[in-house]
Amino acid sequence: MFAFELWREFKLSLAEIFAVFPNGNTIFCDKKILILDWVSKEEILKNAKNLGWTIKIIELKVSSHFINSIDKNEIIAKLEDILNENMWLNSFEWKFHYAINIFWKFPLLHKEMLKISKKIIKEHSLNPRFINQDFKNISSVAIIKEALIKKETDFNFIYSDNKIYFWNTIFVQDIYGYSNRDYGKDRDMNIGMLPPKLAQMMLNLAGWEVIYDPFVWLGTILIEAIFSWNKKVFGSDLNERMVKTANENLEKLNKNFNFDKKIILQNAKYISEINFINEIDAIVTEWYLWEIMTKNNINIERIEKQKIKLLDLYEGFFTWIKKLNFSWNIVICFPFWEMNWKFLYFEEIYDKLKEYFVVNKLLPETIEFSETKAWSLLYKRDSQLVGREIFSLRLR
Ligand SMILES: C[S@@+](CC[C@H](N)C(=O)[O-])C[C@H]1O[C@@H](n2cnc3c(N)ncnc32)[C@H](O)[C@@H]1O
Repeated sequence: MFAFELWREFKLSLAEIFAVFPNGNTIFCDKKILILDWVSKEEILKNAKNLGWTIKIIELKVSSHFINSIDKNEIIAKLEDILNENMWLNSFEWKFHYAINIFWKFPLLHKEMLKISKKIIKEHSLNPRFINQDFKNISSVAIIKEALIKKETDFNFIYSDNKIYFWNTIFVQDIYGYSNRDYGKDRDMNIGMLPPKLAQMMLNLAGWEVIYDPFVWLGTILIEAIFSWNKKVFGSDLNERMVKTANENLEKLNKNFNFDKKIILQNAKYISEINFINEIDAIVTEWYLWEIMTKNNINIERIEKQKIKLLDLYEGFFTWIKKLNFSWNIVICFPFWEMNWKFLYFEEIYDKLKEYFVVNKLLPETIEFSETKAWSLLYKRDSQLVGREIFSLRLR
């Protein structure tokens, strides 16, 4: 069994995990953790580096230490058993750097857990140092810095239904890799940036195919596609400068990756003109969201004006998708706005989507969480007033 620690917008994490591991059987799911069965460790480790929205993956090591009551001493005794069992199984270095993380309502305080663990580790003639700060779970940065995956010493305890489960972290997201790829690009800070992790998540929803981004901009989506395992990518943009920048950004990957790319100047309203439609089998794109609004200039009239312009552009694109009979997955973001603490959705686009597409469901019926009414998922930073509404579509 494996547990996935989910990120802030946990529904994005869930949708991505279910897309990547469709045969996984859900044992437990809440806003922080998803526990899956029926997936092999090999499969998990093969796909882990391509999960944009998972913080870490932990493997169940010792399960079901049953506790009859919430008696503190009994819990402590069980914890000692679990840790001793684990110490027995592993050959650790004398300088024992480790962390303890607890999930759900654990009956012991973090502080107490750390104290007990320290004592037990010392009894095994090791020199323990926990790296938790302020008696809290540790961050991905700390796991990476202290190489706790390699050392196999990022320990996680979960308490549920009077049972204690003990888990070991086997994968943590490479946050430095994402950030290097993001800052390594030539970029224009005036436009809302698509976070590489979100690009990765969208690629996973589409399935791993030869992809095309008709609003390529800096090339974020294509870069993530190449990084993951795509050998061939296509992109286009209306702006000559962006075609040049995206081409240059991708060329920087040539040193480490072997891939083909084609990025051309093209208005997405008339994609009939592209000659590679038969070569692609998914479109993944952050659509033009139009201008970034601020608290000082956002108003209904402005939003309505943008919607009209965007509808015209999007509909041109949809018409061509239909004419070209492009029947593969399209994963796409549309804008939504926040005004006076309320979300305003692009409802006009919903009617258009119904006309042209079937909306793919992103979350399974078996969990208690669901998509929006339109079967989309939302991503928005608190500091921004324009968010992204993510859909997965297929032509009717
Ligand atoms: C929000 S960015 C897309 C972000 C991009 N997907 C990325 O990953 O970095 C919008 C891009 O759409 C382009 N654009 C705007 N209108 C367009 C149109 N009609 N056809 C093609 N590209 C267009 C702009 O030039 C800009 O580069």
